[in-house]
Amino acid sequence: MIKSIGIAAIALVSSSCALFAQTSSKEEYRPAYHFTAPENWINDPNGLVYLDGEYHMFYQHNPFGNVSEHMSWGHAVSKDLLHWEHLPIALEEFKNADDSTQTMIFSGGAVVDSANTSGFFDKGKKDGMVAIYTAHKHANLKGLAQYQNLAYSADKGRTWKHYDKNPVLDIGLTDFRDPFVFWYAPGKKWVMSVVKALEYTVQFYESPNLKDWKLLSEFGKQGDVSKIWECSALFQIPVQGEKEKKWILTLSSGHRQKDYLAMQYFVGDFDGKNFTPQKQDEILFIDEGKDFYAGIPFGNLQSKKPVMIGWINDWEYANKVPTEKFKGAMSIPRELSLKKTDAGYRLVQTPIELSFIAKKTIELTNIQVKENLPLKYNGESYELKAEIEIGTAKTFGIRLLKSEGEESILTYDSAKNTLSFDRTKSGNVSFSDRFPSVESIAVKPKNGKITLQILVDKSIVEIFANGGEQVMTDVVFPKKHEGNIELFSTGGSVVFKKLEIRPVAR
Ligand code: FRU
Repeated sequence: MIKSIGIAAIALVSSSCALFAQTSSKEEYRPAYHFTAPENWINDPNGLVYLDGEYHMFYQHNPFGNVSEHMSWGHAVSKDLLHWEHLPIALEEFKNADDSTQTMIFSGGAVVDSANTSGFFDKGKKDGMVAIYTAHKHANLKGLAQYQNLAYSADKGRTWKHYDKNPVLDIGLTDFRDPFVFWYAPGKKWVMSVVKALEYTVQFYESPNLKDWKLLSEFGKQGDVSKIWECSALFQIPVQGEKEKKWILTLSSGHRQKDYLAMQYFVGDFDGKNFTPQKQDEILFIDEGKDFYAGIPFGNLQSKKPVMIGWINDWEYANKVPTEKFKGAMSIPRELSLKKTDAGYRLVQTPIELSFIAKKTIELTNIQVKENLPLKYNGESYELKAEIEIGTAKTFGIRLLKSEGEESILTYDSAKNTLSFDRTKSGNVSFSDRFPSVESIAVKPKNGKITLQILVDKSIVEIFANGGEQVMTDVVFPKKHEGNIELFSTGGSVVFKKLEIRPVAR
């Protein structure tokens, strides 16, 4: 039954505000349940690998400041992918022996070398870890250089040694980076994907021992080529309702809107040598927001759905975002699968289950919305799930992180079947003229309904529509922090069949 509440406010649990104690102004934007470094700059996740009950996340990190310099690998471990324990820096920028230049540790992967193919470990040791990273050598007389190096750890990633015969892969290019390595069981060999960034090309290599690499094939110059290609990954992915898995190649490049960054994917087959994509009539973006980039999956979770983590920021303004103490965050890990559609295979992403970090659920049913309906709940870190029956409304949606004069607006257009996110009035938008923006995704109703799952966390909004078939992630910087939520409709009414809010405390 529909409870017609019109524009009256709904009495929700009011004590929930207590969960959201104001943080100091310096930390006003630090998310409560998204990963950030204790201090300073982060970008790409690196070396996502699982070993003996621990998920490892390494990440691009400047240990000395809040801008992208001195890239090193930060390190954290987790048992559940949500609570992270920070560990000391794993791989630090280092000074080169032959001249006075520095080498930065750029992005890359990590593997568990359980058969000790590398020979780095004592006989019989099954838990040796090897990191394969891009060494980015600063300009010197010979100019800039990028090549692939190894480092290894015999104590579950706590301490590392660089291989004394580095580099293991150098083709003399200055933009050759971001190796992702996995064990290809049918061929009993390691396979690496790595980008020739300026050539919009992914190269695939094979190796028996992680040290000697042989070129297998190249793939590229298709899909989005509006920006350089970075951070590729090739992995298997299940198809919903089918036994057989497909292969997916993910990589970072341009956005639908000029000069912003995003990630794209290609679905196809990999025979141990070549990646062959399905016929594709459109560019397939992973996340249509402005702030999901450089995502990679855990490379060794073969038995499960792949889990991807991405960096929440956009190089267009990343160095300027108005956060203090920390800069940049990681997405909530996403489980990936494919859905077969008439147009081909399409990616479906769902954030891992958050229920165990949220203590309670506020649940409302059958809320009819005409015009504006402010909820009597406020907060800045929560998960919101909605099942919405499209009624007569021309547009409807949710105003998030709302205070007087500020709001981040999610609007569904019933005629166009689009969902858009507008952050032009979201708070502090003036730090970069590239920041205020609106984007849209196509979201088709199913049986007259759409579903939304929204992860709001201080300065992050991750939006999963229709069970994760379309996704948008954006950062916002509200200034007044009232954290109000308002449902709205224009030109008619709409029914929120279900609305769930799960507050998450820091
Ligand atoms: C992607 C990227 C990578 C590079 C790293 C440097 O965001 O540009 O290509 O390895 O960041 O921090």
